[in-house]
Amino acid sequence: MKQKLFLIVMVAVVIFSQCQSREPQQKATLPTEEEAKMSITKTFFGKTGGGQAVDLYTLTNANKMAVKITNYGGIVTSIMVPDKNGELDDVVLGFDTLETYLEGHPYFGAIVGRYGNRIAKGQFTLKGVTYKLAANNGENHLHGGIKGFDKVVWKAKEIKKENEVGVRLSYLSKDGEEGYPGNLSAVVTYTLTNDNELKIHYEAETDKPTPVNLTHHSYFNLGGAGSGDVLGHVLTLHADRYTPVDVGLIPTGELKPVKDTPMDFTTPTAIGKRIHEVKGGYDHNYVLNNWDESQPSLRLAARVKEPISGRVMEVWTTEPGMQFYSGNFLDGTITGKKGKVYHKHYGFCLETQHFPDSPNKPNFPSTILEPGKEYTHTTVYTFKTK
Ligand code: BGC
Repeated sequence: MKQKLFLIVMVAVVIFSQCQSREPQQKATLPTEEEAKMSITKTFFGKTGGGQAVDLYTLTNANKMAVKITNYGGIVTSIMVPDKNGELDDVVLGFDTLETYLEGHPYFGAIVGRYGNRIAKGQFTLKGVTYKLAANNGENHLHGGIKGFDKVVWKAKEIKKENEVGVRLSYLSKDGEEGYPGNLSAVVTYTLTNDNELKIHYEAETDKPTPVNLTHHSYFNLGGAGSGDVLGHVLTLHADRYTPVDVGLIPTGELKPVKDTPMDFTTPTAIGKRIHEVKGGYDHNYVLNNWDESQPSLRLAARVKEPISGRVMEVWTTEPGMQFYSGNFLDGTITGKKGKVYHKHYGFCLETQHFPDSPNKPNFPSTILEPGKEYTHTTVYTFKTK
């Protein structure tokens, strides 16, 4: 009798303790309804000419916003966002296949590095040594050279956190690559949140002083990729000044007020309103307001609205500058996703960055990364409707 009672008590204790230990565990691992709708999938995208395998990651959030990213060049190939009626459309230019990206293109959706935009005559002098970089834009160096960060295969790691999914890309740029000094270890993390934000966080470290200026080169069209030009998009830039350029698009070194010029987007203005007054169209670095070099914080840099779809995009950044490029060199020779042809001004870029040619412009904020220091930069593209 005593033995039976002991057994019953023991079984009850075991059952009770299991319930106790299981319950909180289950609670901790059960995703919320919002989290359950977030996903990240990986598919094979193809192989590079050198035989390296490349994948395509699809990040989806609870609002059905979906971003596709390949570890070839860290390229964002597609961003599906809802319009004011909840209809999804792809708002970035690009291609359906890896093969077409490999054939060459004007940096659609890519990570640009080591140096976003131009370095005059492809050279700079650092601590008495002159470095010669690859010249791939006339005599100048553009977007990291002949084989920049947009054309290399990055290592990728999937990330799933509370209310966000992402891909962490890493790449080691060897000492001497494209003429740059130092082994540079770069990490770029793309994250999609349930607030319809695409966050890009950049980090880099070096073992020798080197210029670093990483950026992202999506061509946006909030009316849908290939649907028409972007001249009717209404743009606000939080920048009172810009850096004027010479004929080779190299900054003169001046920081010029935009007031009373066609460069002024400090109040909402259609991109096409005065574009004919700007030779070649917009392809300029804006000096973003309120940048504090000692403590760079996320500030609103731009807001763009496409009146028909009602889609709105905001750009927030920790960087001092932003290249506003109105797709001037698109000329109808590129056929993109779903067979759509990309004509002049069919997309615009807002590339958050340090100013072009900073290594040769002592009055610009420095872009030199020293060993033992960390380069960081965060930019957030947020999508809304109005
Ligand atoms: C540059 C343009 C260039 C384009 C594509 C932009 O960031 O400012 O001059 O044509 O990228 O390469």
